Amino acid sequence: MSRLLLTGSGPELEGRVCKAFDGTLNGELRRADDPGGLLDWIAVEQPLVVAIGPSLSPDAALSLAGSIDRCHPEVVVVLLTEPGPDLWERALRAGVRDVIAPDAALPDVRAGFESAFDAGLRRRACRPAPEPERTSRVITVVSPKGGSGKTAIATNLAVGLAKLAPGQVVLVDLDLQFGDVANAMRLTPDQTIADAARAAAAIDETTIKAYLTAHPAECFALCAPHSPAEAEEVSVDHASRLIELLSGLFPYVVVDTAAGLDEWTLAALEASTDMVLLASTDVASARSIRKALDAFDLLGLTTQRRHLVLNRADARVGLAAADIESAVGTKVTVSVPSSRSVPLSMNQGIPILESAQRTPVSRALGELVNRLGALNAAAGPESATGSLLRRRKATR
Ligand SMILES: Nc1ncnc2c1ncn2[C@@H]1O[C@H](COP(=O)(O)OP(=O)(O)OP(=O)(O)O)[C@@H](O)[C@H]1O
Ligand SMILES: [Mg+2]
Repeated sequence: MSRLLLTGSGPELEGRVCKAFDGTLNGELRRADDPGGLLDWIAVEQPLVVAIGPSLSPDAALSLAGSIDRCHPEVVVVLLTEPGPDLWERALRAGVRDVIAPDAALPDVRAGFESAFDAGLRRRACRPAPEPERTSRVITVVSPKGGSGKTAIATNLAVGLAKLAPGQVVLVDLDLQFGDVANAMRLTPDQTIADAARAAAAIDETTIKAYLTAHPAECFALCAPHSPAEAEEVSVDHASRLIELLSGLFPYVVVDTAAGLDEWTLAALEASTDMVLLASTDVASARSIRKALDAFDLLGLTTQRRHLVLNRADARVGLAAADIESAVGTKVTVSVPSSRSVPLSMNQGIPILESAQRTPVSRALGELVNRLGALNAAAGPESATGSLLRRRKATR
């Protein structure tokens, strides 16, 4: 799955679009040189947005846009061509959402595409989930080091994804001993993961709902036990089973974890389609992320999409994103700046994305949500649990 499919555009225009995004589109931009087979490509790639470039004549571009609108109404179409009043009128009729001038300033190119991506995500979110082939996206937030912002990111992911898909997100607090998702989201859970573990033998897709705590932002949480002693009642198998059940019920399962890579975190990763790796701007963090990635390779945790998030990215004495990238060997997906609003929001129990404020931190968090929000990617490398869990058992 890619976010953006370009057609009717040469490598030069592709390069400009990449540049507008500072290279952060990674592998999510594809170019289809042959507009003839484009409808088939769209079925395979399931892009959020198709951009039709200036190598096609206006008539050919509009006819292609009309076909996409008929066959794939969930896909947003933009024209990458010189806008003009006559073209606009015809483009609107053909179902085109925007016309972006190929030589527009890079920030304008980016803004145009970001608005198209948002529209694509909204169209996806409004579509009924495909039945019976239910797919879910299990996103586990991990970091080798404590205090790196896992809970801040996980709670905002849950609230942000719930804006795209209300009622379809559950956050699991797998920091069993000291998890603080409940505080960070001002929840008072009646039931926790420890209660769910105690009832494990009788738990199924219907009864598990009784252990979730609803949040006003239309997401749910399976909160951590009330005490470290109770945490001992939750085994690794319990954790795997609960995540498996939840991924059958919710299109999005977000998992917050304890610092480091304990057995529970590895079980969650094995059940995941995506891992969000949190790094900070110090050398030790970059080194530990590199070691964690090596460990994942050894453990066969290779099919999950890896999203490297640089937290407190503007810390003055820290390394630049490029240094982190070269130390870790992976591109930074999103950089979240340092801001007092993060601890404030956690202390108040109101995740930043719950409010409508537009700040650099909320924009970065929103970008991460959009990255992870493309539901159709959920089938992913291996949809949720099954085979990964089997592989884990086989490697131990
Ligand atoms: N971008 C940021 N800017 C400023 N403060 C931040 C930022 N991200 C996180 N923090 C603060 O850092 C502290 C640790 O964050 P958080 O609790 O989310 O980390 P964690 O990885 O979940 O920690 P633990 O390993 O203890 O569970 C909190 O006080 C939080 O408010
Ligand atoms: Mg935490």
